[in-house]
Amino acid sequence: MPSPTINRQWLYTQIPDAVVGPEHYSYSEVELQRSLAVGEVLVEAAYWSVDPYMRINQSRRPTWNAEPHPLGVVQSAAVVGRVLDSRDPELASGDWVEGPLGWQTHAKAHGSTLRRLDPTLAPPSTALGVLGMPGRTAWFGLMEAGRPQPGEVVVVSAAGGAVGSLVVQFAKRAGATVVGIAGGAEKCRWVRESLGADVALDYRAYGDAAALESALREAVGGTDVYFDNTGGMISDAVMPTIRRRARIVVCGAVSQYGGGLDEPESGPRFSHHLLYQRATMQGILARDYLHRMDEMLARVGPWVQRGEIVFEQTISAGFETLPRVLQELFTGSHRGKRLVSA
Ligand SMILES: NC(=O)c1ccc[n+]([C@@H]2O[C@H](COP(=O)([O-])OP(=O)(O)OC[C@H]3O[C@@H](n4cnc5c(N)ncnc54)[C@H](OP(=O)(O)O)[C@@H]3O)[C@@H](O)[C@H]2O)c1
Repeated sequence: MPSPTINRQWLYTQIPDAVVGPEHYSYSEVELQRSLAVGEVLVEAAYWSVDPYMRINQSRRPTWNAEPHPLGVVQSAAVVGRVLDSRDPELASGDWVEGPLGWQTHAKAHGSTLRRLDPTLAPPSTALGVLGMPGRTAWFGLMEAGRPQPGEVVVVSAAGGAVGSLVVQFAKRAGATVVGIAGGAEKCRWVRESLGADVALDYRAYGDAAALESALREAVGGTDVYFDNTGGMISDAVMPTIRRRARIVVCGAVSQYGGGLDEPESGPRFSHHLLYQRATMQGILARDYLHRMDEMLARVGPWVQRGEIVFEQTISAGFETLPRVLQELFTGSHRGKRLVSA
């Protein structure tokens, strides 16, 4: 019998009240027996995903899940890794796979829960970003809920992040005029010059929502599609600019992930304006489009292969960095998809 593998794990151990950080996790090492049941696969992780939804799942209030993430277990996460051993005829040692394996260095999983990756088509890490959940969110959220038309104005918040940076580019491809809202002059320059947004607004440079609203009106007049990743002050600024029959895509509320999920911030009431403008507001969840992943890959995959999509990845090295990197997701200034590599 082969000797056991030491499996390093990050366990989620404490519910955060504000921004999540290393103090909410504990490190553990366990022995993993390498024997496999029929259909099972042993995977060694190469990239771990770090995503805002992790903080949502730690909220004390009900979310899309009936219960919050349980305490004392491995932090759930999407992972890209390589097959070490397999008793699934469809997967062989050395294959690259993506699956929900969590923050641990090794995992056994049934082969049916894994997606085999072709590393000749795109770097395997893209299965956690542009060709993974964030790409699916951006594509279906924008194209099916946002439905941008040529010449319309699409406003995207958190425009320099994993989802937002793709929404900017997909909206440009749809022929829209695109406004990206992001934090900091440097990130805004990147949103404009590399991602191709027509306008980039640094929300931190405006003292309040009224000042940001004025800048938005001055730049583009009004908003036909608002892809909302942040809520909070940015939404307070964008909502009054919503035009006739606008579509508001509620994708996330990252401005509230430092405690606001349990004690929601109150803001201005916009329903009368949405009524006058006959606007539509729709929440979207990536998981509702999981069964249509191939459709997204067929559209976006060739653009990635031809180098037509910017999919920046901010990668930190070392399994030990994971909880700190999750904290930085909310407090730092990364560009594109945030990942940790082995
Ligand atoms: N509905 C779904 O199924 C789904 C799926 C994936 C993601 N999402 C949501 O989409 C949003 C973006 O996710 P992502 O994975 O692409 O993360 P991300 O944008 O790569 O990272 C989060 C970013 O949020 C920004 N941010 C943090 N605090 C903020 C604040 N108070 N106000 C404004 N911006 C703030 C920061 O950018 P700046 O430097 O620009 O401040 C940070 O880089 C999140 O709300 C997430 O929950 C939803």
